[in-house]
Amino acid sequence: MEHVTRTDPFSFSVDPSTGIVTPHDNLIQRRLSHMNGMFMDQAAREAMLEVEDTLLYEVYEVEVPDEAGHLMVCTSITYPGKVGREYFMTKGHFHEKIQTAEIYSCLRGQGIMMMESDRGDWKAEPMTQGRAVYVPPYYAHRSINTGQEPLISLCVYPGGAGHDYATIETKGFRKLVLEKNGKPEIEDNPKWKSRI
Ligand SMILES: [Fe+2]
Repeated sequence: MEHVTRTDPFSFSVDPSTGIVTPHDNLIQRRLSHMNGMFMDQAAREAMLEVEDTLLYEVYEVEVPDEAGHLMVCTSITYPGKVGREYFMTKGHFHEKIQTAEIYSCLRGQGIMMMESDRGDWKAEPMTQGRAVYVPPYYAHRSINTGQEPLISLCVYPGGAGHDYATIETKGFRKLVLEKNGKPEIEDNPKWKSRI
């Protein structure tokens, strides 16, 4: 049987209006400057950066042993806004161990979970308060805030899953979510590169 590092049971609180986890061990903050080449409208991003390096999303992490048998837990908070016509979003990632899944339980806000498999299959699922998204194994995933308030989820995934950001950074998602006539629309990403 696989060895699992023992920890004592514990609990933590999650504020559904802010996504703040108490106590938490790590806070990751991603700003516009960290998202080079990820938004379609590069000129709009550069113009925004000249004014402010806007905070796009945050992740509060609870530290547990990052190994099989444990469950990693965090909150993901994507703030409302747009770069050109494209809604604020997370970088998106595959898991390093690509055969691992994840649950996103939405606590607040309005958005879309964009998912894309290593074979190029894609699916967009709605994220609203009280709704959960199952991200199956082999699917990259990105939260996109199409609403007016923070999009907040509680995320749970297997210990040892790891994160592969590089694939999305270089190849992108095949679908983008852009505002058209005041509403979110899913459009092809002209810069998308197939993985197969
Ligand atoms: Fe993930």
